[in-house]
Amino acid sequence: MSNRTKDITLDIVEAVRDVLRRHEVTFDEYRAGFQHLAKTQGAGEIPLLIDVFFNSTIVEIENEKRRGSHACIQGPYFVQNAPNVAETLAIRDQDAGHPKMVMRGKVTGLNGQPVAGAVIDVWHATPDGKYSGIHDNIPPQYYRGKITTAADGSYECRSILPVPYQIPNAGPTGELLETYMQWHSWRPAHIHYWIHADGMRDLISQAYFEGDQYIDDDCCNGGGSEFMVPEVYEGDVRVMEVNFTLDPRAEAG
Ligand code: DHB
Ligand code: FE
Repeated sequence: MSNRTKDITLDIVEAVRDVLRRHEVTFDEYRAGFQHLAKTQGAGEIPLLIDVFFNSTIVEIENEKRRGSHACIQGPYFVQNAPNVAETLAIRDQDAGHPKMVMRGKVTGLNGQPVAGAVIDVWHATPDGKYSGIHDNIPPQYYRGKITTAADGSYECRSILPVPYQIPNAGPTGELLETYMQWHSWRPAHIHYWIHADGMRDLISQAYFEGDQYIDDDCCNGGGSEFMVPEVYEGDVRVMEVNFTLDPRAEAG
């Protein structure tokens, strides 16, 4: 009888053994690695550590089976029940002077037919790199919201411009990335999207800002996105035009 858990586990073990042999890892190094994992566990950062290195690979596998727009990593900061928004996401008073953006585009099916009434959850970080509802007691209504597409599938909503974002780096995951790997804990600036529409598979994606220094050097290995939006302005407002193509759900039965 096939046992997928056994097959995958033994393959992981063999892949790790191969690395240990190739690098002739010493007992001291083995023990140090082991202790760092225990420390990561103690800090409750095992999910963070695993997501940083492997979430993007699972998304890559999923994208092989998806038609239409590709998915990106979800990240840990989606919040349920964000407010419905029309013209703009809520902006904190202290951020009122920050550069602005307009998010707009169209949601269509595989044949280009408009998808009306699709709900797009958008969320992005504050200018100081925090997520509302998660960090620093920032009330969850800021920089999040549900936008509904019009009859022609279009959507439009304003906010302020996200900036590059640093993942939580005060614990053992940050220590691994920054101190031991001499890398960094930055992600490119991004907007998150989660699109729900009747009869369609959900799409969880991100858009990035062309020219961002971290796009090809993302600590979460985000792998970029098909939504690499060029630098276009309307007056002093950055235009983030992103058009999504949804994959129909398989017919039941
Ligand atoms: C993480 C944070 C994000 O904002 C994101 O998009 C992906 C990952 C993180 O902290 O792991
Ligand atoms: Fe994010």
